[in-house]
Parts: sequence; structure tokens; C-alpha cells
Amino acid sequence: MNHLSLYQSRRMAAADAVRQVRNGDMVIVPTGVGEPPSLLTALSEQRHGFLDVKVAQILAMRKYAYIDPETTQHVRHVALFFGGATRAGGQAGWIDFIPNYFSEIPAQIARGLIPADVVFSMASPMDADGWLALSLGADYTMAAVAKARAVVLEVNPNVPFAHGNCRIHISQVAALVESSEPVLEVGLPKIGPVQEAIGRYVAEHIDDGSTLQIGYGGIPDAVVMQLAHKHDLGVHTEMLGDGILTLIEAGAVNNSRKNYLPGKTIATFALGSQKLYRHMDRNPALEMHPVDFTNDPVLAGQNDKLVAINATLQIDLLGQCGSESLGHAPFSGTGGQSDFVRAANRSRDGKAFIVLPSTAKGDSISRIVPSLSPGTHVSTSKNDIHYVVTEHGVARLRGKSAKQRAQELIAIAHPDFRGELMAQARSLRLL
Ligand code: COA
Repeated sequence: MNHLSLYQSRRMAAADAVRQVRNGDMVIVPTGVGEPPSLLTALSEQRHGFLDVKVAQILAMRKYAYIDPETTQHVRHVALFFGGATRAGGQAGWIDFIPNYFSEIPAQIARGLIPADVVFSMASPMDADGWLALSLGADYTMAAVAKARAVVLEVNPNVPFAHGNCRIHISQVAALVESSEPVLEVGLPKIGPVQEAIGRYVAEHIDDGSTLQIGYGGIPDAVVMQLAHKHDLGVHTEMLGDGILTLIEAGAVNNSRKNYLPGKTIATFALGSQKLYRHMDRNPALEMHPVDFTNDPVLAGQNDKLVAINATLQIDLLGQCGSESLGHAPFSGTGGQSDFVRAANRSRDGKAFIVLPSTAKGDSISRIVPSLSPGTHVSTSKNDIHYVVTEHGVARLRGKSAKQRAQELIAIAHPDFRGELMAQARSLRLL
């Protein structure tokens, strides 16, 4: 059968395509906007007919009807990272989660530690040779494609046909549906004066010719806004967003001085505007790859001057970062934070920045604390931490003793909390 007839033979309505799922299956869905809305809506509509089906994903974007505490025995979400659609369920306990380093999810799928029975993903239209691109989220989805009993795609002309290891052949596809709605857009977060101040401090430490990883959350994007006047920056990141596109358009990013994959912007998933998705289409200067490639600390660390910029919620005086929970309550996930902190530590002249406002809740609590709140999930270890930045300055912790770390961190805490932090540090024998 030629590619076109194969394509036609796989094409069906979403209500039929979801019948590829069997009771007890784990369905793997890509990060963010790589999730296929027609398929997940059809699965939601039919959920009462299924038993014990799990849907695993990093960062679900929409609260589909299957994300429902009343029907978890039929179909339930398993979070690899919590976002707005799933956080409340995670905190209430009816959405479970699988702790992970993003870079290691593909290997866990390959070894069967995380089952992958079915893949549901958005895909670009097919090219003349029968290839479709899973460009919005190559992440762990490419590993799941290799393992799954059935790959089910939602083919949409608004999904870019990107370069990189993000393509699958029509012969690997069990069923497909077509849709034509624009890919979901995700705007840049709001940036206030605190974020801006942190962005300025970080930007001062970024040399021309550095290669960037830009993390998730408001402050990493605030840093990007301060980099438009830099030269010859490169990108080797996990998330491709509009902040990076702005730097490419401004000419600050040209990837010319990257010593690993020069000339290419490298990422594993995209989250942004229609303009960003169009920029990815058949762009020879951009490649989307699986996350065990983009986030592997050894590979990413081959870039000299690799700069990783990631956010945290809370940090203790040793430099342990609770970036993903508020005490026991899950908030997000480790994502690629630890991967890229380690990558930057391996990189020649690399720098890993962990950024956070010094306070939360209207300046009523310090985010720099003597001890993490009970139950806090540690995302970045004290052994990996390098730079910490608040709106009050920059602390460099790598190579420093516990006492020096406490001093450095108290110096960038909010002035209202410094006295109390000093007293507590003394009682912990840290000063
Ligand atoms: N105690 C109580 N509340 C706190 C707090 C603390 N220590 N720290 C933060 N909060 C509250 C904030 O006030 C804010 O609440 P609001 O929305 O009501 O204002 C909320 O928690 C979020 O904090 P914020 O600093 O605005 O987080 P963010 O939206 O910039 O996101 C994360 C930061 C969660 C995304 C980031 O910490 C994270 O997930 N990191 C791990 C993953 C990662 O780095 N991946 C990188 C590669 S993509």
C-alpha cells in the first residue's frame, strides 16, 4: 500500500480512534500543547465504558472531562508534572504522580518501568514520503511510540513539520483523526518589577556567546527580556517559547558560537504563540528532539558557557531548592530543572541560575528559609546548586561551605527577614 492509501485506511472519527485503548492501558500524551484535544475529548465522552485506564502526561493544558474525581476508576490522569488543569486534583490526592527527571522518562518507558500501551499525540500533516512530525512534544513521546501497541494521532495542518528526531512514519500509526483548530496558544507570564530586577541581575552574568536553557515560570522569561542586546547567543533548551523567538528575531540568538550542534536551536517541546509554531515549520535552523537527548546533562553540557535559568518556590540555607511543592502539596514537578543545573555544572564556563522572588504572599513570608517546610519536595540538591538570584542580588554557592552559603543567602533575602534568618542560622550552627 502506498503512503496515501495507508493514511486513508487509518483515518477515522475520534470516537472510533479511541477504541484502540483497552481496559488497564496506560496512554502516553506529550507535554503541553502536543496533547490532542479531539482524542482526549472523545476518551472523556466514552470514559464510563473503560476500566482502569491511565493517561500520563507532563503539563496537561486543558481540564478535560476525564480529569474528574468521580470517574477515576474508569479513566484517570497520572501527572508527570502538575499544572493548572491538574494541580487541585494532585493536592486533593485523586490525581497521582510519578516523580521523575524529565531526561529519564524515555528510559523508564523503554525499560517498561512506566508502561506505554497507547500514544495519543498531535501531529503535522504527512509529507510525500509518509512522515509526520510530533514537533510540539518529542519529549518522551518518541520513546512511547517505539514501545506502544497503538499510536493514535490527531493530524492538524497548524502543527509544524519540524526537523530533528521528532518524526514518525505512517506505517507506525494505528489510527488517526484530522482536526484544523489553531494549536493552543500560551502567552508569556506577567512580569513585574521584582521579576525585572532578577532578570537584570542574571543578564549581567551572561556573556556573549553563551548557550541558553530557559526554564518554566515568570522569572526565566523576565531574564530573556534583558538579553536582546547580547550577541551570538545559542539555544539548547527543553521548552521553546516566545521569549526565545524574540531573541532570535532581535538577532541576539544566532547559534554561531555553539560548539555542540552549531547553527541550530535545540528543544524538546514548544509552548507559545501561532507565530512560534509557524517559525518551527521546516526551519533548518531549529530541531526538536526527544528529552533524553536535549536534557541529558552530559550531552547538553558539551555546550561551553551553558547558562541554565530555572525558578524555585523556596530555598533553605544550604541551597536545597523546593521548586515543585508547597510543603506536602504538589505544585509542579522537577521537569528539566535538575537536568540542566547538572548540564551547566558540566559545561566549561557554564552557569546554573536558580531564581526566585525573596518573599511570597504579599511580603509576609520569606522564601529563603532555615529549613524547607515539612514535606517539601527537593528538586535541586545542595550538591548541584550554583547561583541563586533574588531581587536583592546574586549568591554564588558552588564550592562554598555551609556557613558561607548561609551568609550569601541571607544577604539576598528580603531585608525584613535578614535579622530573623541570622538568629535561626546561629541556632542551627550555620553562622
Ligand atoms: N510559600 C507559600 N507560597 C508560595 C511560596 C512559598 N514559599 N513560593 C511561592 N508561593 C506561591 C506564590 O505566591 C504564587 O502564588 P500566586 O500565584 O497566588 O501569586 C505561587 O506560589 C507560584 O509562585 P511563583 O513564584 O509565581 O511561581 P511561578 O509561576 O514563577 O512558577 C514554578 C515557578 C513552579 C514553575 C517553578 O518553581 C517550577 O516548577 N520549577 C521546577 C520545574 C522547572 O524548573 N523546570 C525547568 C524546565 S521547564
